[in-house]
Amino acid sequence: MKQIGIIGSGAMGAGIAQVAATAGHHVIVYDNNQTALGQAKTNLDATLKKLVEKQKLTDEKAKSILSNTQFANDLNQFKNCGLIIEAIIENIDVKQKLFSDLEAIVSATCILASNTSSLSIASIASACKKAERVIGIHFFNPAPLMPLVEIIPGILTDENVANDARALIDSWGKVTVLTKDTPGFIVNRVARSFYGEAIRIYEEGMADFSTIDWAMKTYGGFKMGPFELMDFIGNDINYKVTESVWTQFFFEPRFKPSLTQKRLYEAKLFGRKSGRGYYNYAEGTAMPQPKQDEELGKYIFNRVITMLINEAIDSLYLQLATKEDLDLAMTKGVNYPKGLLKWADEIGLKNVYTSLDVMYELYNEDRYRPSILLKMMVRDEKKFY
Ligand SMILES: NC(=O)c1ccc[n+]([C@@H]2O[C@H](COP(=O)([O-])OP(=O)(O)OC[C@H]3O[C@@H](n4cnc5c(N)ncnc54)[C@H](O)[C@@H]3O)[C@@H](O)[C@H]2O)c1
Repeated sequence: MKQIGIIGSGAMGAGIAQVAATAGHHVIVYDNNQTALGQAKTNLDATLKKLVEKQKLTDEKAKSILSNTQFANDLNQFKNCGLIIEAIIENIDVKQKLFSDLEAIVSATCILASNTSSLSIASIASACKKAERVIGIHFFNPAPLMPLVEIIPGILTDENVANDARALIDSWGKVTVLTKDTPGFIVNRVARSFYGEAIRIYEEGMADFSTIDWAMKTYGGFKMGPFELMDFIGNDINYKVTESVWTQFFFEPRFKPSLTQKRLYEAKLFGRKSGRGYYNYAEGTAMPQPKQDEELGKYIFNRVITMLINEAIDSLYLQLATKEDLDLAMTKGVNYPKGLLKWADEIGLKNVYTSLDVMYELYNEDRYRPSILLKMMVRDEKKFY
């Protein structure tokens, strides 16, 4: 597979193109916006220059990456590609039209992949005559730096297509995990409680943002607390992902969005990029100090980690991915200090179950119901590893 096509030269497309060209492919990049395409070229030049300056790349390698990358303004130039990865606007109608147009250009064996974060592969593939060639290949931002890639076969995807796609992305030095075509795939589903339960604790008046962030970093070893991370990702993006996962799961209470974040989103308090989110980033503004209360900190960490673990266990129960891939996804995709199932073993499944059951009894909300698999494993005194 020599030639790789990338469609969409925004944040993700440009990053994926860099990864593929670095792996030695001839990469063709297309965008329907000439300015965006020009910007991607300028950015690639600048990025490679910086990497050479920092001695992370030889001058020769940088030159070969540049000569491997071709910026095209016509989809017909994709006719000899073995794989095309689409990273355009997150809109099902626009993606379907593109996939249908592409099929008329490419060879019968070309794999058509989407980098979608929230749309179903089945619905994108439905626009194609050969739906068996369509697959999800989901990179994380920034693609050259984040090791994880989720491989998502749709309901009609050929097994060989999935195997070939996974082997190819592995050969690019990425860590791949295989997952089902369900909302949020692994990472954007399992991580929801990190944000949602933290906001719930805040809404209940138990602790402020900085105390919750402090607790998750101190007792969980997370690099960033949930509110710092939401401000970093952007409350517009983070809120929309939560809302999308919740609606697509037919309003599953575990994924229910919060009014706290919705109001931030409506007020355009997106976080770092807008200057204010949960925190105020204006120059000269002092950051609030956490209340470093050990008992409270441990309660916060225990409540959030319990919800994260329950989600990972339920995902395993519903065969979203293998236990190894579920753990890899969270450590390599969102930098969690440990895989959640490994963490569950360490905490003790009985302890996890008891924490959940106490909350379930107290709140009488489905949100806190323990996964059946957790119940069965406690009953049988089993561990994941
Ligand atoms: N940004 C992220 O963190 C992230 C992470 C993983 C996946 N994704 C997914 O990747 C895709 C792209 O996201 P992004 O953040 O790079 O977006 P972006 O807005 O930075 O870039 C999208 C690019 O696609 C171009 N485009 C739009 N419609 C097009 C069309 N019909 N044909 C050709 N080009 C077209 C736009 O001009 C733009 O340059 C989306 O599906 C998104 O859900 C994003």
